[in-house]
Amino acid sequence: MGKKKSKIAMDLQAALEKDPAARNKFEIFFTYGGFKALYRHRFAHWFYNHGMKYLAKLISSGTRRKTGIDIHPAAKIAGGVFIDHGVGVVIGETVEIGTNVLIYQGVTLGGTGKDTGKRHPTIEDNVMISAGAKVLGPIVVGHDSKIGAGSVVLKDVPPHSTVVGVPGRVVKYNNMRVDDIDQKLPDPILEEFARLNKRIAALEEALALKSCKYSITMQNPEVDKDGATSIEEEIIDLKHEIDANKQKLHNSEEDTINRDK
Ligand SMILES: CC(C)(COP(=O)(O)OP(=O)(O)OC[C@H]1O[C@@H](n2cnc3c(N)ncnc32)[C@H](O)[C@@H]1OP(=O)(O)O)[C@@H](O)C(=O)NCCC(=O)NCCS
Repeated sequence: MGKKKSKIAMDLQAALEKDPAARNKFEIFFTYGGFKALYRHRFAHWFYNHGMKYLAKLISSGTRRKTGIDIHPAAKIAGGVFIDHGVGVVIGETVEIGTNVLIYQGVTLGGTGKDTGKRHPTIEDNVMISAGAKVLGPIVVGHDSKIGAGSVVLKDVPPHSTVVGVPGRVVKYNNMRVDDIDQKLPDPILEEFARLNKRIAALEEALALKSCKYSITMQNPEVDKDGATSIEEEIIDLKHEIDANKQKLHNSEEDTINRDK
């Protein structure tokens, strides 16, 4: 049976594999801020677990000063994690991170402020968390998932998913696009427009007017294929139609009066 690798050796290997710019372990050891932060965290975590919390905090605050990466000494981080660039990364007290995880600069693994006890995320194996993403609350990011740059993730992420946006939503699952309709949120403004459009259409029908060509919420058979007519031209047409209808009404009233005579 082969000798078990130390977490630090696994971190070095992960950096070498995940950073295309990395040339050798020597360079990573002495120049990579993300590696340095994790290396120091391993010691801080040991001291924290052995009742030397003050010493642990001293190490982690020194790490923050040196690298711009703030990792609470209680955070449980498996071997084989790589923090690329690193500046601005914050990892909270009750975070758990699996192996082979890639974290970019500006990532926060934090709390929402609403939970107590376990209040930070759990990141399973083989996850990638892109630059600036915020993963908040005691949620689980399933293994082999990707979190897009700038996303704010507040709900559990199933394994093998890609999550993007604010708030984060699953756009890919098992490498296939997720149909947006399932996740569509109600849009009250668009619904109100749709209601008004229906009323206008009913009025237009009652007044025997040609219906409007421009609509964002209704299928309209009047729309000309090339869309060449401008809205101004349509308004002029509408005015002519109204005038013609007024004239028709006037004529029919006159006819009735003449007949009555
Ligand atoms: C999420 C990411 C990892 C791509 O994952 P993926 O599984 O390959 O997903 P895709 O590229 O197929 O994108 C899926 C959809 O999400 C959209 N999307 C991807 N990343 C997004 C983001 N950060 N924000 C919003 N939408 C995003 C895509 O446009 C695509 O939408 P579409 O299907 O309507 O075209 C990648 O886009 C990303 O954010 N990378 C950042 C990596 C990083 O931090 N680099 C810093 C180096 S210093």
